[in-house]
This record gives sequence, C-alpha cells and structure tokens, in this order.
Amino acid sequence: MSKKPIIIGNWKMHLNVDQSKNLAEKLEESLSDFSEGVDIVLCPSSIALHQVLAATPSLSVGIQNIYFADEGAYTGEISASQVKGLVRYAIVGHSERRANFGETNEMVARKAAAALRNGITPIICVGETAQERHHGEATQVINDQLSTGLTMLTASEIKDIVIAYEPVWAIGSGESAKADDVAEAADTIRSATAQMFGQSATEEVRILYGGSVSSDSAGSYLNLPAISGLLVGGASLNDHEFTKIVQIASEVANQQDE
Ligand code: PGA
Repeated sequence: MSKKPIIIGNWKMHLNVDQSKNLAEKLEESLSDFSEGVDIVLCPSSIALHQVLAATPSLSVGIQNIYFADEGAYTGEISASQVKGLVRYAIVGHSERRANFGETNEMVARKAAAALRNGITPIICVGETAQERHHGEATQVINDQLSTGLTMLTASEIKDIVIAYEPVWAIGSGESAKADDVAEAADTIRSATAQMFGQSATEEVRILYGGSVSSDSAGSYLNLPAISGLLVGGASLNDHEFTKIVQIASEVANQQDE
C-alpha cells in the first residue's frame, strides 16, 4: 500500500434517510479516531447526503453517481456542480451503472471531467466481466476503459483521481479476487496511465480494489504495494465490519511507517 490509505463505503441503493443517519452516527463514533491516518469516505444514497454530512464531521462523504452536464433539463439527474462543496468524492463508471444504465467509457470520461472541474475527486471504476476474464481479455478491457475514460483529463488532474479495480464477477458475489490478480490489474492500470500521462504524474494516482471485500480479505489487498485502499459495498452497511476494515487499513499503514 502506498500513500494514505482510502477506504470507501458504497451503500448503493440501500437504507432510507433515518437508517442512513443512524449508520453514519455509529461510524462517526467508531471511526473518528482513525480519520487522521485513513481517508474514510461514505457514499450514501443521494437522498441522505445532508444527514450523513451532518452526522460525520470527521469522515468524508461521496456521491455514488453524477451527471456530466453542470445544469439543464436532465430530469432526475444530479450534477457535480450541485454537490460541489458538499461531497469530496464521486464514484464514476461503477459496473452497475455500466450494466444497468448504459454508462459508456465516453460518459465516464465526461463525468470524470465534470467532477474535477467542480473540485470533486472522481473514483473511476474499471474491471472485466467473468466472460471477458475467461477469454483472456481482462487487460484489454481495462486498457480500453482507461484510454477512453481518462481522455478528457490532463497530467496535473490525473494526480487527483482514484481508480478502483473492480472485477465485475467479484462484486456482490462473495468471490473476491486473488491478491496476485489484483496486483497484476494494478500494474496494468499504472502502465496505462503512465502511457497516457507520463510516469511521474501516474505515481500519485491511488489505485483501489473492490469486490466482495470483507474484514477477512482486506489485509491481503492492503498489503500490496500497488494498492492504496478499498471500495467496499456490502460490508460497508455493517458498522462493525466496516470499522474492522478501516482498523486493518490503519494498522497496515502504521506498520509501513515503522
Ligand atoms: P461488494 O461491492 O463489496 O458488495 O462486492 C463493491 C462495489 O460494488 O463497489
């Protein structure tokens, strides 16, 4: 793991406003002591952003999706400019959005640019499906997702982004990726960004792993030199489990500092 670790909880379309507030209050209590050493980001449903922000002064808050225009006649969408100053992060290109809502690599590129021009750090998700992996296409898929997805960014902006490797087959399946495969995907991501933006810009990019992460598997990823943190779905809805994962990130970071 390099740099300050970042642990992101993606609550997806779970919890109503009161339940979100409740979970946020518990996490503020259990995690505030770790917030100095670990970037802890909660991504609730947008309806609960205000309540979660109010309940978590020591933690960061992110949005699960943004639209790429700043304003206009886009019924039901939320723009980066509307949440500017509220959230620090925006998840972009999550595989559930790609699969269920037709999000393309071009849209990912525009969303990443929209986030950055509004002072929000995009968490850009990439990863292959089971079928693509089976056909030996994982590297190619990641390269394609990045070569288009990052195309609107500059070398100075690239330093501020987060890229999450989330193999589609590992998400919500209980089957997390092997640490060796994650290390290999992180290499692919680093080489792709280096090719586009140069080696030095790329060294700053934080690469995360996501897909059925639990407190049992978290350490195996966080100990990889190429991995700076985790994007956690299901396990982030359980305050004990998410707290354990953050604790592990903090321990790994402390060991590396010694
Ligand atoms: P999961 O989700 O941890 O439930 O697999 C991860 C994600 O979708 O970001």
